[in-house]
Amino acid sequence: MRVHLTGATGFVGSNLRYVLTERHDADVLAPGHAELDLTDRTLVRRRLLATRPDAVVHAAIWNDFDGLTRDRRRAWAAYVEATRNVVDAANAVEAQVVLVSTDWVFDGTQGPAAEDEPPNPINAYGFLKAASELVVLERAARGTVARIAGVQGVHRTRPELPRRQDAGFGYLLASLFDALSAGERFSVWEGEGLNALATPTLATDAAELIWRALERELTGILHCCGGEHADRLTLARRAAAAFELDVDLLDAGPPPAGSIAPGGVPRDTRLDAQATAAALAVELPDLDTMLARLRAELHEHCGSAA
Ligand SMILES: NC(=O)c1ccc[n+]([C@@H]2O[C@H](COP(=O)([O-])OP(=O)(O)OC[C@H]3O[C@@H](n4cnc5c(N)ncnc54)[C@H](OP(=O)(O)O)[C@@H]3O)[C@@H](O)[C@H]2O)c1
Repeated sequence: MRVHLTGATGFVGSNLRYVLTERHDADVLAPGHAELDLTDRTLVRRRLLATRPDAVVHAAIWNDFDGLTRDRRRAWAAYVEATRNVVDAANAVEAQVVLVSTDWVFDGTQGPAAEDEPPNPINAYGFLKAASELVVLERAARGTVARIAGVQGVHRTRPELPRRQDAGFGYLLASLFDALSAGERFSVWEGEGLNALATPTLATDAAELIWRALERELTGILHCCGGEHADRLTLARRAAAAFELDVDLLDAGPPPAGSIAPGGVPRDTRLDAQATAAALAVELPDLDTMLARLRAELHEHCGSAA
């Protein structure tokens, strides 16, 4: 299968590229941002007409939370117009298009939110992702929305993490792993203004689910997440135990002053993925299974002894 992948140099995109090429032998075409800016409608169309992929997986975003409210025109172009460009070009070559989306389309009171729960975003990022979802659902001839959540894993194009612990779940366990492996204490953020509950997902597991959706040409909304919910501290403790690191190095406390962006994030973004699991004929991994796989990936990535 030939797949055009956007955002392949990013965290999620690099894991998608890895899974599609290394495990499934897909022919992945992944021009970088400098080569193909997705806000350029003509270029996107021309590229897809020239390469005629069977599917497009759209994982690119402008990842700048402050920027999304500082420059709303740029944000709209980078999310909604870029998605429209991708969808229209995919339609022109009759390709399935999969938008990688997020649990943050929900407001934080809806968890566990099923695939058909109406989105109700509370910040600019959630709004732009929900608008992008609508573009795919309403405009793509064969459109799929793959919501991922609390994404953990290794970044396959960067040796260092681009971010540390933040108000979301992303990068939480990789940050914890780095600290505890070095014998340093790690404080798990607790308190107001945080995404406190989610359905953690290994990036490579999400990529596997997206691959299955491509193979089955499944359209509509999918929750490509793990099979067990967790709060931040429970996840951190279970991870430290699974990584055989010192759980006593874990603390819980408020985030450092100024580290929570204004605007708020959804508190409880647990996803119900029963319909997705049935449609893809898979059993979603529980936390321990997910953490064992993450441990293997972290050790492989860091080259450190298990
Ligand atoms: N990370 C998470 O925890 C998480 C959770 C839920 C959902 N998601 C979803 O997963 C997807 C990927 O997120 P991520 O964390 O992997 O982001 P990321 O690491 O910041 O990667 C974003 C990618 O998009 C590219 N890009 C940005 N603007 C572009 C443009 N105009 N044209 C072409 N490429 C462009 C970037 O290239 P440059 O760096 O060269 O600009 C980069 O490769 C997003 O759809 C996000 O909503 C992520």
